[in-house]
Amino acid sequence: MKTGPVRVAVLGLGNVGAALVSVLLDDAGGIEARSGVALQLAGVAVNDLTKTRAGVPAGLVTADAKALVEDPGVEVVVELIGGLEPARALVRSALSAGKAVVTANKELLAAEGAALSALAGQAGVDLLYEAAVAGAIPIIRPLRESLAGEPVRRVMGIVNGTTNFILSRMSESGLGYAQALAEAQQLGYAERDPTADVEGHDAAAKAAILASIAFRCDVHAEDVPREGIARVDPVDIAFAAQLGYVVKLLAVAERLDGADAGDGPPGAEISVRVHPAMLPKEHPLAAVRGAFNAVFVEGGRAGELMLYGRGAGGEPTASAVLGDVVDAARNVRSGVAGPALPVSPAHFHPADDLRSAWYLNIDVLDRPGVLAAVATVFGDHAVSIRSMEQLGMGDEARLVFLTHIARQGDVMACIDGLRSLDVVEHVGGMLRVLGDEEDRP
Ligand SMILES: NC(=O)c1ccc[n+]([C@@H]2O[C@H](COP(=O)([O-])OP(=O)(O)OC[C@H]3O[C@@H](n4cnc5c(N)ncnc54)[C@H](OP(=O)(O)O)[C@@H]3O)[C@@H](O)[C@H]2O)c1
Repeated sequence: MKTGPVRVAVLGLGNVGAALVSVLLDDAGGIEARSGVALQLAGVAVNDLTKTRAGVPAGLVTADAKALVEDPGVEVVVELIGGLEPARALVRSALSAGKAVVTANKELLAAEGAALSALAGQAGVDLLYEAAVAGAIPIIRPLRESLAGEPVRRVMGIVNGTTNFILSRMSESGLGYAQALAEAQQLGYAERDPTADVEGHDAAAKAAILASIAFRCDVHAEDVPREGIARVDPVDIAFAAQLGYVVKLLAVAERLDGADAGDGPPGAEISVRVHPAMLPKEHPLAAVRGAFNAVFVEGGRAGELMLYGRGAGGEPTASAVLGDVVDAARNVRSGVAGPALPVSPAHFHPADDLRSAWYLNIDVLDRPGVLAAVATVFGDHAVSIRSMEQLGMGDEARLVFLTHIARQGDVMACIDGLRSLDVVEHVGGMLRVLGDEEDRP
């Protein structure tokens, strides 16, 4: 068996790659003292060789990532390029050559995590990706290992710092969505094109990865229905606060059948989704402010657990990547790989059958009989009203409803019915309300 330092290749020298390379170069002794494993940086691949790379010896930098991966001396490949290609081809090539791979690439994993895990399993090597969900927060390893025997019922996370920052600013300072987004962009929390974050694509990829690990099944980003935050109005946030709730963008992965019966049967139905929701102020996730992330896990035996921390940023993310590199390097020297998880096809619970309480905000004409007409539509669709508040606005009025638990399909049909009423001007805010009488079938 080989001895000596484990040789590590890093692909990508951007926010995360540069932070990781700096630790590998400056703290190799500390890492060895803390972890018992010696790491040696074998090389770093970049796209543009003409850029200045402060602190990285020029001899270690190459623009030929493929050759670096194929270097027989490289034992662990760290993919920090992002996106699908060339990351996919490089990861496949490394795994096929029997090299352990560490990646932070949620896009790649949410597209073909199961196939890559199968390839790693065939090659008997590790594929580790702690940093792909919620940056510095260790959530993948706890789900995969610490909770390996736990019948996980639900994983619910604030996994996108940009949207959490925007919603926090809207709720704490009364900013409108556009203002809060502009502030996030100014502070570097949001990209110039914020679509991936505010429309929920980023959170959907992470939800797919969380669901795959929590329920050992094959979930892809495109399987995840998503709603973003662009339609959340300051009025909804103010109402939420008045009613004792905060609005958060949640990535939810839950098991629906057998949920209360210990281990669900193989092939149990799951729901994986991303949407804004009203959370009771007392819920642990409600206290997660600004750009922070947190993941809340409900286990059948363990009860409730929460992990909290920085979900992005070069250094925090590199910390999670380094943990994986150490793990992979230890396994390389012991000649083993972490256990391959069983993966079955995912069976999705129909979205229409999901059940939760709802908040609806409707602008109506202020005429006699309006309330009766609106209440009839609710009744016709089996959506029972828990509370209603009316705010007069001259010829118009705003009605704010909280419903009891209802089928999502019925609520959507009810909203269509409301929209078709002459007296309804506009159906504004529509948010699921989580709480005591939670959305269980
Ligand atoms: N940033 C975060 O906070 C964060 C958090 C969690 C997960 N992640 C994930 O971590 C990964 C890296 O993110 P990042 O923010 O560090 O990205 P980034 O700043 O955009 O850096 C990407 C790096 O990849 C290099 N690259 C591009 N094409 C290449 C190619 N063909 N061959 C070799 N290198 C190539 C670029 O080279 P040049 O320098 O020459 O342009 C750059 O150094 C992504 O998967 C991302 O989703 C990031």
